[in-house]
Amino acid sequence: MTHLAVDICGLRLKNPTILASGVLDETGKSMLAVAKAGAGAMVTKSVGKEPRAGHQNPSIVELQHGLLNAMGLPNPGIDAYAAEIKEAKKSGVPIIGSVFGGSEDEISELAGLIEKAGADAVELNLSCPHAKGYGSELGSTPELVELICRNAKRRIKVPLFAKLTPNTSSISSLAAAAEKGGADAVVAINTLKGMVISPDARMPILANRFGGLSGQAIRPVGVRCVYEIHEAVRIPIVGVGGIGNGRDALEYIMAGASAVQIGTAVWTEGVGVFNKVCSELLEFMEHNGYESVKDMVGVAHSGRR
Ligand SMILES: Cc1cc2nc3c(=O)[nH]c(=O)nc-3n(C[C@H](O)[C@H](O)[C@H](O)COP(=O)(O)O)c2cc1C
Repeated sequence: MTHLAVDICGLRLKNPTILASGVLDETGKSMLAVAKAGAGAMVTKSVGKEPRAGHQNPSIVELQHGLLNAMGLPNPGIDAYAAEIKEAKKSGVPIIGSVFGGSEDEISELAGLIEKAGADAVELNLSCPHAKGYGSELGSTPELVELICRNAKRRIKVPLFAKLTPNTSSISSLAAAAEKGGADAVVAINTLKGMVISPDARMPILANRFGGLSGQAIRPVGVRCVYEIHEAVRIPIVGVGGIGNGRDALEYIMAGASAVQIGTAVWTEGVGVFNKVCSELLEFMEHNGYESVKDMVGVAHSGRR
């Protein structure tokens, strides 16, 4: 019987689609709506220790094939956000708690706190490209990625996911470092650092000047990253970047992803995208004789020329 269920590090997902961090996950209520729409799991907004306002507006620019955002990691802080996780858990859908911090100690403390709040797995945001002192500023050196993962892993019992930056010359080295540090899975990719300038105003449009590019435009970069990581590590990979239909998800799965996350397409198309991706995946599998998603993971590597 053809089915969409996947198992990632012991987490049972009814299908391989996961809500990506930062879109419709500010509140428990919005996550309940995403769960109702069919997501197999949900990643929370990245949360820090203290409340944080994020960057000033304009903080997002809509482009033809994507978004450029510099939200700046706005969040209410872990203590307040715990209530949102409690609410989201009513869905019965696995919740992956995303955290960011300015040092390995702060990150590991947050990993412990978000597990305590009820997260079924922890995702370390080592990759946000537009928040000074956080994200990719810590996640761009393999040594630091390994150290951060090792410290966080010691604090928690649930699976640890490391979300990696594509703004590097070797994402597979970062993935290998995460694996060495004890991460149970890697997530690729976060946004690509970019800028849009208004010729009329003669200045960058985003108040933060730089932002992170997401959506359709970055899919080939994400697929390439997952493909490279698949050749470098043995732990599962979660693919993310520009997924909006079944064929997009298939590209990531065939490159080596065991599941996929969807962010920008939820913003541009709404929560119906989860069902769309799932039904298109199922149709492809039925037509091509695949019983489970697992059977398709990494198959693009065997067809190598
Ligand atoms: C508005 C917005 C906010 C985001 N916030 C976060 C965040 O808080 N933490 C994080 O790890 N990634 C964040 N991301 C990155 C996404 O989770 C995802 O990695 C990226 O957008 C690529 O996937 P997509 O093309 O499906 O959006 C954000 C993306 C967008 C568009």
